[in-house]
Amino acid sequence: MPKTLPLDQRPPLMRLDGVDKTFGTVTALQGMSVQVNQGDFISLLGPSGCGKSTVLRLISGLMRPTSGRLTWVDPPKRNDLGVVFQEPTLMPWATVAQNVWLPFRLQGKTYVEVRDDILEALRLVGLDKFQTSYPRELSGGMKMRVSIARAMVTRPKLILMDEPFAALDEITRFKLNNDLLALKEKIGCTVIFVTHSVFESVFLSDRILVMAARPGRVIEELQVDAPYPRDDVFRTSSEYAGFTRKASDALHTAMEEAA
Ligand SMILES: Nc1ncnc2c1ncn2[C@@H]1O[C@H](COP(=O)(O)OP(=O)(O)OP(=O)(O)O)[C@@H](O)[C@H]1O
Ligand SMILES: [Mg+2]
Repeated sequence: MPKTLPLDQRPPLMRLDGVDKTFGTVTALQGMSVQVNQGDFISLLGPSGCGKSTVLRLISGLMRPTSGRLTWVDPPKRNDLGVVFQEPTLMPWATVAQNVWLPFRLQGKTYVEVRDDILEALRLVGLDKFQTSYPRELSGGMKMRVSIARAMVTRPKLILMDEPFAALDEITRFKLNNDLLALKEKIGCTVIFVTHSVFESVFLSDRILVMAARPGRVIEELQVDAPYPRDDVFRTSSEYAGFTRKASDALHTAMEEAA
């Protein structure tokens, strides 16, 4: 398994240079420049409308910048990218395993061909016993796990997550945060994670891009220089409290700048 290197030793994966995105008169994103390195866990933290989802859409190739550039070290192929949205977006008529099969099916691979990968992904999110269940039989947290298994079944290099846990209760969210870090370590991917939550961003990431709205932009980058694996001991430490205070101050500045 690839081990995550220290922040300053990670090889580059992709970068945005002076990226702007406008929709009519709305500047969704202005002058975004960031280098994403292999193994980074980056959170985009900021108020509603600051362009977080726009950044993910640009990186996933769903839309193009109005100006500026995205550059990849190796242009991503279809299965190099995994995406998880706020809603689990599962097919209700298909079983858990069939839902996780989807990215492979789109490539023309039969279920039998990739069955082992599907079962491994379900095992990693703790749902191997539910492979024949239907989404309606699952809790919100379990559905989100299926969605994560589907995003990672192809072992993507980069996973983009847009507020995946926002609709969940706090206990489930903490649990999924722990599991997500373990999963990232196992498959050795890079994660870009959108959240409104200071606590979640500090717990998960080693880099936090704090964004402000109107126009959407990055106003500060914070590094959470605390070792992984992180667990509930970290969550209750004074170190964690210190980082959340910093992130919270930066977020307040972001809100004031937009007001
Ligand atoms: N397809 C679109 N057409 C028009 N305007 C858009 C479009 N997508 C985004 N916008 C506008 O761009 C700005 C940034 O939107 P974006 O969805 O990226 O924000 P966000 O930070 O993800 O917000 P939230 O936290 O509410 O999800 C907003 O003002 C939004 O209304
Ligand atoms: Mg959004």
